[in-house]
Amino acid sequence: MNTNLIYPLRAAKHCMRQLLFVRHLLMFAVMLSRRLPAIIAQCWRDTASGDDSHLADNAFFSCIYLCVDYFLLTFAQTKNKGNMQKIDLEGKTLFVTGAAGFIGSNLVKRLLHDTTHARIVGIDNMNDYYDPALKEYRLKELGDGGGRFTFIRGDIAHRDTIDRIFHDYKPAVVVNLAAQAGVRYSITNPDAYIQSNLIGFYNILEACRHSYDNGQTGVEHLVYASSSSVYGSNKKVPYSTDDKVDNPVSLYAATKKSNELLAHAYAKLYNIPSTGLRFFTVYGPAGRPDMAYFGFTNKLRRGETIQIFNYGNCKRDFTYVDDIVEGVVRIMQGAPEKQAGDDGLPLPPYAVYNIGNSSPENLLTFVDILQQELISAGVLPADYDFEAHKQLVPMQPGDVPVTFADTSALERDYGFRPSTPLREGLRRFAQWYREFYGEGGN
Ligand SMILES: NC(=O)c1ccc[n+]([C@@H]2O[C@H](COP(=O)([O-])OP(=O)(O)OC[C@H]3O[C@@H](n4cnc5c(N)ncnc54)[C@H](O)[C@@H]3O)[C@@H](O)[C@H]2O)c1
Repeated sequence: MNTNLIYPLRAAKHCMRQLLFVRHLLMFAVMLSRRLPAIIAQCWRDTASGDDSHLADNAFFSCIYLCVDYFLLTFAQTKNKGNMQKIDLEGKTLFVTGAAGFIGSNLVKRLLHDTTHARIVGIDNMNDYYDPALKEYRLKELGDGGGRFTFIRGDIAHRDTIDRIFHDYKPAVVVNLAAQAGVRYSITNPDAYIQSNLIGFYNILEACRHSYDNGQTGVEHLVYASSSSVYGSNKKVPYSTDDKVDNPVSLYAATKKSNELLAHAYAKLYNIPSTGLRFFTVYGPAGRPDMAYFGFTNKLRRGETIQIFNYGNCKRDFTYVDDIVEGVVRIMQGAPEKQAGDDGLPLPPYAVYNIGNSSPENLLTFVDILQQELISAGVLPADYDFEAHKQLVPMQPGDVPVTFADTSALERDYGFRPSTPLREGLRRFAQWYREFYGEGGN
């Protein structure tokens, strides 16, 4: 080699190494900053319990876990490159179930905004689990999407309906969000969960399977909603998709875990690329009235008392709906790649991700911020006596004390993590509420 080139090349190589080193340092710092609160909390608990004999051990092992996590992450990043099938949504038919629902309607809106030639077909049975007027309102907001959105009022538990839709529209990407949601409702209404979450999901899987019949291109990606509730009362936080989730504490959670198992079997047997998304407590404008932030608001404006479970000792990873939708849209465009195993049979093109804010908030802090934002938006008067309308009560069956998402896999594979601050999200909810229900919430 020309000796004149050797020195500039060496310098460039040296420079690259240094850049790489700085990048690794930065990544490590980011991981450390996310884990540090948990490590400090553990040390604090040890000290507060009066038994600090394990303090040094716990701190030491937390640091070791952090280092191992870091190296696994960098290893996975190298290994994962190129292991994804990119999907261009333009010109395709996208099928969204639960399209009049909270997340579904926001997803349809976003898909209409982001694409110019995609056709979106939505289905919803408009059930009255909560006020159907809210579902009608969301649909009205969507309109017909400039002729690109077709809404079908129908039930995913009806096999014929689903088969007909797949036959008529031939969707390339399917996002299954239709489900009977809610943990507490599953205690009194189990049938709804079996119908929508199990039979309905099975119908979707069967339709995906037959979409490849007679050499058709078929479904390129099935994305479906799972839930953070599959983690049950797991003690280890943050919840990682690598954790064991075999101990559901509600029927709702059991159906969501079943969805993941069924999707895995269908991915293996019929090579259907599928991705399950474990959403963490989603909130936002035109959200679900059965969820705490919405229910609290309704009660407070009627002058009723709100009940704060587990005496306020609950932590939730509240995730703003736009962040959820951003995650879903990114994931729709990257399916797990179809690959053959050593035996010549398909390796299941299957993945599961957490989508959560990765920053759990105490329920009492959450209520406090909500109150402030409700006053700012004019939903409640400035002199509202909150203390007189608050009651601390014990834990409810099916509830879990904490939810906390580990989103490192989502960041690694899709370069995204939710980031909307709670105050900002609750402000937008309060402003929407004021607009929708009027001043004083009337
Ligand atoms: N919102 C959250 O905090 C959260 C958290 C974890 C998981 N999820 C999951 O995300 C998905 C969407 O949740 P969401 O908050 O938008 O709930 P949502 O109740 O607002 O939306 C679900 C929609 O599905 C419809 N639906 C129910 N059963 C149906 C059926 N058999 N056929 C057709 N339509 C049916 C409902 O009418 C509703 O409009 C659900 O699968 C839910 O389990 C939500």
